[in-house]
Amino acid sequence: MPPSATADTSKTVKLESNTARRSLPPPPLRIQLPPTLRQPRRRIAPPPPTQLLIHRNLLLLLLLFRLGEAREAILDSKTTQHGLSVLVTGAAGFVGSHCSIALRKRGDGVLGFDNFNDYYDTSLKRARQNLLEKQQVFIVEGDLNDGPLLRKLFDIVPFTHVLHLAAQAGVRYAMKNPQSYISSNIAGLVNLLEVAKAANPQPAIPASLYAATKKAGEEIAHTYNHIYGLSLTGLRFFTVYGPWGRPDMAYFFFTKAILHGKSIDIYRTQDNQEVARDFTYIDDIVKGCVGALDTAEKSTGSGRKKRGPAQLRVYNLGNTSPVPVGRLVSILEGLLGTKAKKHLIKMPRNGDVPYTHANVSLAYRDFGYKPTTDLATGLRKFVKWYVGYYGIQPRVKKENSHADDSA
Ligand SMILES: NC(=O)c1ccc[n+]([C@@H]2O[C@H](COP(=O)([O-])OP(=O)(O)OC[C@H]3O[C@@H](n4cnc5c(N)ncnc54)[C@H](O)[C@@H]3O)[C@@H](O)[C@H]2O)c1
Repeated sequence: MPPSATADTSKTVKLESNTARRSLPPPPLRIQLPPTLRQPRRRIAPPPPTQLLIHRNLLLLLLLFRLGEAREAILDSKTTQHGLSVLVTGAAGFVGSHCSIALRKRGDGVLGFDNFNDYYDTSLKRARQNLLEKQQVFIVEGDLNDGPLLRKLFDIVPFTHVLHLAAQAGVRYAMKNPQSYISSNIAGLVNLLEVAKAANPQPAIPASLYAATKKAGEEIAHTYNHIYGLSLTGLRFFTVYGPWGRPDMAYFFFTKAILHGKSIDIYRTQDNQEVARDFTYIDDIVKGCVGALDTAEKSTGSGRKKRGPAQLRVYNLGNTSPVPVGRLVSILEGLLGTKAKKHLIKMPRNGDVPYTHANVSLAYRDFGYKPTTDLATGLRKFVKWYVGYYGIQPRVKKENSHADDSA
């Protein structure tokens, strides 16, 4: 379904700053509002002026109400056991949506932030947004590069933590659209850190880091920690999979291809070895993210000045047991009751690595991180979600059968 067909504008409130979308006419408002708020961009022909005025006012009233609600929820959370007030960037994404729900369920205050970009099917992001709304997690629609908007959010809500998961993910897409990595993973990160460093109180930030732009992100984070006293934690995820996952990832599009009788490309290394990944189940990643949040120390800066040394950490969050991609396919075949049409090819030279294996000893030492879900168990949960979400009736095995029996 196209995003415009699924986007429920009564729930989706898009915020943009004065610096963005200058082409929109200034809204004819009379109520006192932060200057950064604008109505969502619509694809339909504009209504006549009177109707437009009423419509905009309604949207803005709704927006104020929702932000007020979010702020209340966040301030209420101060009375709970953990008492975190977390801005989750990338909240409509795979990892961000799971982490938001986990934090909300234990009583923390959560405000989501996401630009709903179309790197993959946006209707999946909207469906995750609906799920989050049911848990009273509201997502502000905006871009990391929108400084005035981020500043406004920090003005309204005193965040104790930022769980920064908004990024341009995926390795291969970098060959196609390198600019999106620079824009989100470098410029967007710097913008977020600029706003966080000036916020009072300064939040603590565990961020997700990946590949070259992510490595640069680690260096940039180091600088902000050193100069401004921001408490920063880098999290390196290893091939995360599970329900509500990303359609651009192999386990996801293999499932689709197998169900549709289409062939799948299975990579071999340049020296004809099997490619393997340290596949990590989403619930284990969520536990790692929450552990990093709970052990993050306070930032030490205020008024843009560092008052003392602040915490700086980097952790691997993986499963610690790499599995060849061929084995992943066998498990899926068993679960779906269908043989895959396999096409073995050499891995393209695109920056992707043949093998990943996480050493999680630091995360274990500091917050007891210990992955507990093996690939067969996790994939069974993924396939169950997949067939339910897409309304498919496959020959999926029952919950108590072993996924790899028939493999
Ligand atoms: N899933 C994995 O296997 C994996 C592995 C390693 C690292 N990571 C990293 O973990 C993080 C979360 O990954 P994910 O799998 O949930 O990806 P995802 O693409 O599902 O989520 C990222 C979200 O960020 C949003 N976003 C992107 N750029 C933005 C911007 N400029 N402003 C506002 N929002 C923006 C997107 O709309 C998306 O909803 C990313 O940093 C990713 O690189 C993921």
